[in-house]
Amino acid sequence: MQVDKYLQTLQLSDETLMDVSIRFRREMDKGLCRDTNPTAAVRMLPTFVLSTPDGTEQGEFLALDLGGANFRVLLVKVMADGEQKVEMENQIYDIPEHLMRGSGTELFDHIADCLANFLEKLGIKDKKLPLGFTFSFPCQQTKLDESVLLSWTKAFKSSGVEGKDVVSLLRKSIKKRGDFDVDILAVINDTVGTMMTCGYDDHLCEIGLIVGTGTNACYMEQMRNIELLDADEGRMCVNTEWGAFGDDGTLEDLRTDIDREIDAGSLNPGKQLFEKMISGMYMGELVRLILVRMTREQLLFQAKTTAELLTTGSFKTSYIYGIDNENNEEGLASAEKVLRGLNLDPSVEDCIATQRVCQIVSTRAAHLCAATLVAVLRQIRDNKAAEKLRTTIGVDGSVYKNHPEFSRRLHKMVRRLVPDCDVRFLQSQCGSGKGAAMVTAVAYRLAAQNAE
Ligand code: GLC
Repeated sequence: MQVDKYLQTLQLSDETLMDVSIRFRREMDKGLCRDTNPTAAVRMLPTFVLSTPDGTEQGEFLALDLGGANFRVLLVKVMADGEQKVEMENQIYDIPEHLMRGSGTELFDHIADCLANFLEKLGIKDKKLPLGFTFSFPCQQTKLDESVLLSWTKAFKSSGVEGKDVVSLLRKSIKKRGDFDVDILAVINDTVGTMMTCGYDDHLCEIGLIVGTGTNACYMEQMRNIELLDADEGRMCVNTEWGAFGDDGTLEDLRTDIDREIDAGSLNPGKQLFEKMISGMYMGELVRLILVRMTREQLLFQAKTTAELLTTGSFKTSYIYGIDNENNEEGLASAEKVLRGLNLDPSVEDCIATQRVCQIVSTRAAHLCAATLVAVLRQIRDNKAAEKLRTTIGVDGSVYKNHPEFSRRLHKMVRRLVPDCDVRFLQSQCGSGKGAAMVTAVAYRLAAQNAE
């Protein structure tokens, strides 16, 4: 097929993927070692989360979840009487675009406003509840309740937050209102929240994976391997921040002109290069840029572009979910509808070609994710000196959940690249907010024990 030939550089062989996996393993090492950490692209950030839930946690907790497709406020009730049970109330709030890229103070004031509204609605404004904050950006932590933002990623770019502790910023905004109080006990990444949520149901869960607006993973690492911390015993969860893989040039041979074009037009040029090849924030735009190029090279739409096709963001990632469908008929009908929506007049061949572009772009994303995941699996296996690893990966994110083929392609490639690992993928049911409540519950239990 002509499209396949045109997009050859986006189709990665098993050998190439294995090579990417080996490169990523090296990057993980670089991030873990004290000497190389300061210049490592893959940050391998300690999270101060030491264990997954043991089932004895209980109480009422608040959670905030910022950085994914939605901003959520949650109330989570964890019951430990006999059977483990969790009850949740949650509310989605809008974060207007001007706040994502305006002043940090305004952003945190808005978060405090939403929290106040939530407490008021539930009639619990006068309770001082423990709170966990899922903040899905790279942060330097020195303890569970202090988290300094290293750099914004995805669609956020508020001023005056990078280099600051987000817990202090949130406390300040709450204090300024003066009408309620909370006890902020933990800040965690969404990957950690996902691992904890899934870990509550499956005690073998030791990896958290997100393929949504952004992509990233965390896993339980041996303390002795985290050289930045002076501890030898036990394990700690490490947030890899694998979205930044390649930011030091490691992936230049695999990046294509389209990848460079996406990066050049992004909010953070030169950053999160691996993420830009994979996640939901970029996938639709990758497809659009390819369609534009192919049209200009007279391979599509009788060489006629439209203003809509030329508009940044007009090809939404969610369109791919309808088009890249095993059921060809439905997929093609969907392609036609989307293309007509962009004011194009597609032939049957145009629809078939568009479907193939969607397939190739999203398959590359699933396979690249598989490659880095395999590196994490091998690291865990080597740590345990196990011949055959049996483990569970907790997964969340809009692409993983909504793309009809993504998960199957990811699982298949992982199993092909590490046949000697017995991996279970567990989809998180209630998102990373619940995980924040779980981490908070553990912190709360430990604080109570220490106070005794
Ligand atoms: C981005 C963030 C990372 C987060 C991921 C998924 O890569 O930097 O912290 O886990 O998106 O939301």
